[in-house]
Amino acid sequence: MNLDKAIEKVLVSADEINEICKRLGKQITEDYKDSDNLILLGLLNGCIPFMSDLMRYVDLPVQLEFMDVSSYKGGISSSGDIKILMDINTSVVDRDILICEDIVDTGKTLNVVAKLLLHRGAKSVEVVTLLDKPEGRVIPFEPKYIGVTIPKYFVVGYGLDFNELYRNLPYVGVLKEHYYMKDEE
Ligand code: PRP
Repeated sequence: MNLDKAIEKVLVSADEINEICKRLGKQITEDYKDSDNLILLGLLNGCIPFMSDLMRYVDLPVQLEFMDVSSYKGGISSSGDIKILMDINTSVVDRDILICEDIVDTGKTLNVVAKLLLHRGAKSVEVVTLLDKPEGRVIPFEPKYIGVTIPKYFVVGYGLDFNELYRNLPYVGVLKEHYYMKDEE
């Protein structure tokens, strides 16, 4: 089955994503020009396409690191409950950390990760996200760099998944209701 068939409408096209990466990369390059210790920290798995495109427009020496952090989904979860599946592989003490995300929704993930990194001695912690869904916020959280603000759609593609699929779409789209309803039957 072609992936396109599952998509109701394209929300952010591949061309728009490229323009976003260019714009944010330029801004990040300017803002961190005096930093000699920047870490671009991707939160797996969703960050992969965005981080790899964005970094090409960051014209600075930058160390790439990753964490795999997962929110407890379903069941009873207290706010901010997240699980570290894979930790960052280096010390963050006195480092400027720029966390790279595909989406900020409830804000729970970033609230916990940002606090953890600061607690461990990071010099600064900021966030760059392709998508911001402010209507989903449970915990106040303001990413410094935002590609585009979106309404409360269920979106997939360009890193975002439904049941681990659709991450490889080259754009962000709204999944046809039929595809996720089928899963709930
Ligand atoms: C997604 C996304 C963010 C987080 C945002 O990750 O990549 O990390 O949810 O949601 P929040 O603002 O409500 O915390 P997920 O845990 O689904 O893992 P994934 O990146 O592997 O898809």
